Amino acid sequence: MPVSPKSQASGASELLSELARQASGCELCPQLVESRTQVVFGSGPADAELMLVGEAPGASEDREGFPFVGASGRLLDELLAGIGLSRDEVFIANVLKCRPPENRDPRPEEVANCSPWLERQLEVVDPAVVVTLGNFATRLLRGDTAPIGKVRGRPEIAGVGSRQVRLFPVFHPAAALYRRPNLEVLQADFAAIPALLALGPPEQAPPDPGPATARGEAGDEPGVGAEGESGPDGADQLGLF
Ligand code: URA
Repeated sequence: MPVSPKSQASGASELLSELARQASGCELCPQLVESRTQVVFGSGPADAELMLVGEAPGASEDREGFPFVGASGRLLDELLAGIGLSRDEVFIANVLKCRPPENRDPRPEEVANCSPWLERQLEVVDPAVVVTLGNFATRLLRGDTAPIGKVRGRPEIAGVGSRQVRLFPVFHPAAALYRRPNLEVLQADFAAIPALLALGPPEQAPPDPGPATARGEAGDEPGVGAEGESGPDGADQLGLF
């Protein structure tokens, strides 16, 4: 019987833990290394079908080491509860894993430095639906500069790494804290998430079989059966290490 990637969650958990360990020592952005207390990698199950991507840790997140634990996080919990979900069921990450000083906006070079961590999180968790919270996550994962106000509430299928996902841009929860009318918009957008999840992952492009010689070599390898004991989430295949 084929092994679905989601039934290999324990392998994915180990990959995520290893990724978190590596990220915890990241020193690519000198100013953020100075300003952070710790790297805020992300939280949630490795087999989550829904991934939420925010902007960057704030003071509470920097102190506690988890994403969305401050005021925005409490609102996020309420929004999730409103659609029958809890944060234990979703993976939550940010574009930046370190708090920018004075909560300033992420800089383009910081986004560029940090985005491989997010790409690898997306690759390992392999969610069906990715909700981008606000401009930074939306622009990064849509790959253009359209403002959130123009694209929010419109699901689209987007290539993220090697996978197709249902991308769903919504306002950042902080936008609803600062401007109450945004809350209704955010609640209405969240209400669309269960139906997106029910659709499951979008159709995937067939995998690139690679050069014929490489196929032959892999197939001839003793001990790796048709179901691939090395697994689709093997570290080598993800290029994690
Ligand atoms: N907390 C986070 O973890 N991310 C944000 O984008 C805002 C608050």
